[in-house]
Amino acid sequence: MLTNQANQYGVVQIALHWLIALTIFGLFGLGLWMVELTYYSSWYLTAPDIHRSIGVIVVSLMILRLLWRLANPKVVPLATHKTWERKLAHVTHALMYVLILLLGISGYMITTAKGQALQVFDWFSIPAISFGIEYQEDIAGDLHEIFAWSLIGLAVLHIAGALKHHFVVRDNTLKRMLP
Ligand code: HEM
Ligand code: HEM
Repeated sequence: MLTNQANQYGVVQIALHWLIALTIFGLFGLGLWMVELTYYSSWYLTAPDIHRSIGVIVVSLMILRLLWRLANPKVVPLATHKTWERKLAHVTHALMYVLILLLGISGYMITTAKGQALQVFDWFSIPAISFGIEYQEDIAGDLHEIFAWSLIGLAVLHIAGALKHHFVVRDNTLKRMLP
């Protein structure tokens, strides 16, 4: 099934989930690595170019995923999900959406702080908007780093929950996020 059902995620939601999950971890590693590069590395300019371009794509996919999710029937929690788990999972999922959007906004604000457009590969570019914020590049950079670590922290909690339900509770939580 392409669309979500009450007790099973559809192929679109599943494909986007795993594609985005892998990309987020990739961007996190790439981000940490690239900020340590020196001017003499051949990756000094290329790595941030790739990071920014893939960043824009993953944020766009996340928006698509949110719209898809809203347009589909709601996947209901399993009977084995306790009330506190439902609440925690709901807040975690919502925060992950928000943090990925905030990573996109702060990433855009780092890149465009000095009026430079955000170039996405050699496909298109997103023009800079002037916000007139002093030290915009540094502030957005600090926030971007905080958002990235917060997202990874939540993802670890999220993965722990998924694995607990699969191996300890032994319910279908993980299975219904698999094709
Ligand atoms: C539109 C999307 C994005 C853009 C335009 C973008 C842009 C940037 C830029 C320009 C930097 C360099 C900051 C600096 O030199 O201080 C950076 C760093 C970084 N980015 Fe992104 N990014 C995006 C999305 C993401 C996402 C989704 C993640 C996922 C976790 C991420 C994780 C990181 C990390 C970990 C760093 C290193 C932070 C540090 O240690 O200073 N970024 N990003
Ligand atoms: C950065 C990585 C990840 C992000 C951002 C993420 C995000 C999300 C979000 C927002 C949902 C809610 C459903 C939706 O809107 O599509 C979800 C569901 C789910 N995720 Fe992830 N996820 C990540 C990694 C993982 C990993 C590695 C696993 C498995 C080990 C996993 C297992 C699941 C499962 C089982 C569900 C369904 C939960 C339920 O039905 O209550 N996720 N994920």
